[in-house]
Amino acid sequence: MDAAGCPAHAGFTMMDPEFLADPYAVFQGLRDDPVFYAPDLDVYVVTRYAEVDAVLTRPEDFSSSVTLTPVTPPGPEALEILAAVDFYRPPNLINADAPRHTKVRRYVQEAMSPRRLRALEPVVTDWAGGRIDEMVARGHGDVFADLAFPLPALTGFSLLGFPAEDIELLKSWCANRVAFTYGRAAPDEQVRIATSVANFWRYTNDFVAQRIAEPVDDLASDLARRHLEEPEEFTPRDVATVLFEMAVASHETTTNALTNGLRRLLEHRDQWEALVADPSRITNAVEECLRFDGSVMGWRRRATRDVELAGVTIPADATVLILLASANHDPERFERPEAFDVCRKEARSHMTFGKGVHFCQGAPLARMELRVVLELLTARAPDMRIVPGQHYSFTPNITMRGLNQLLVEFPAAAAA
Ligand code: HEM
Repeated sequence: MDAAGCPAHAGFTMMDPEFLADPYAVFQGLRDDPVFYAPDLDVYVVTRYAEVDAVLTRPEDFSSSVTLTPVTPPGPEALEILAAVDFYRPPNLINADAPRHTKVRRYVQEAMSPRRLRALEPVVTDWAGGRIDEMVARGHGDVFADLAFPLPALTGFSLLGFPAEDIELLKSWCANRVAFTYGRAAPDEQVRIATSVANFWRYTNDFVAQRIAEPVDDLASDLARRHLEEPEEFTPRDVATVLFEMAVASHETTTNALTNGLRRLLEHRDQWEALVADPSRITNAVEECLRFDGSVMGWRRRATRDVELAGVTIPADATVLILLASANHDPERFERPEAFDVCRKEARSHMTFGKGVHFCQGAPLARMELRVVLELLTARAPDMRIVPGQHYSFTPNITMRGLNQLLVEFPAAAAA
């Protein structure tokens, strides 16, 4: 307890191996304190559903300005690499507040038309179907490398309008970026990630310039047209910022949701069998996967003034870390929260996509990707199972939760 009456948990970092192996067990104990101070991260941590909801739905008290701020300040070498490509992203969307956020979010919403999203489902089905058939024929596979890492890149980049022939190159710049913003990347890792980020940023700016010169029918061109309508208010850099952030937002989040979700389904064999027996359960199973072991564990806000939350005064300018994954296991909100149940009625109330004015704009796309993959796998590989005895590894960080590998096997194919 500090002088202001706020409980403190020294050593809470979300980065040690025991925590990463089972964060939910740790959250269970932490929820005794709905709000506490974590000196190692210098954040106020919010653990329960009701308070997480309050933070997300009071944007005037809790600003989004810190959502993309690196937890570990980058070192001089990484900064130099980024400065060389003038890597500056003005707040426009994920880390912006009203009125700027309201306007840019509307631009994005209009560009993410239902027609564009519908057009992606056959792309996902064809591509994922092909990769699944390959894995099944081989008798084994790595869900992460074969499916979950490449799929969201393909869909996210196609949605934005990046040309198909560039997707392989773009993907090569996307691997293992999480530690840079949300973790404790060592200097050499920072340099590797900064180099990829710089390449991606340069590519995005060139692409925006092309779309401004010659708009076509894609999301990037819709944003380029906004620039042409109001050149001072929505600059090419603003367009590039939004595209860059969407490319990031659509990728690791969905990759991790796929691997975490499949792991849990295959670990709870009765739940997997329930989907094989009745695929109409898959839509709800997607929500339960996102609730039970979702891909975004924690998310940040900044207190705009001294704010009281659950009896604790959070001082103005303090960073607030809301534990979405802990809220998703709060027994006050979810009955038997530690049970994994694909038929759970309230599964969709999870916080994994956030809530309120910044609610994830890609949720329909992510839900579609997860649903299609589960439909394909349950139909084509009902005997799929996890390779026993494998060690699960996670990148230590305060936000993203996902396996770096998930080995599976298909006994029927192997026996044939
Ligand atoms: C399972 C996959 C995904 C998860 C768990 C996820 C989660 C989130 C979360 C937690 C936020 C922040 C909400 C807040 O600040 O209150 C967010 C924002 C956002 N996400 Fe997702 N996301 C996923 C997939 C996607 C996809 C596929 C896209 C596609 C483009 C996307 C685009 C966005 C955008 C544009 C925002 C910013 C919205 C705003 O600030 O108004 N996300 N997402």
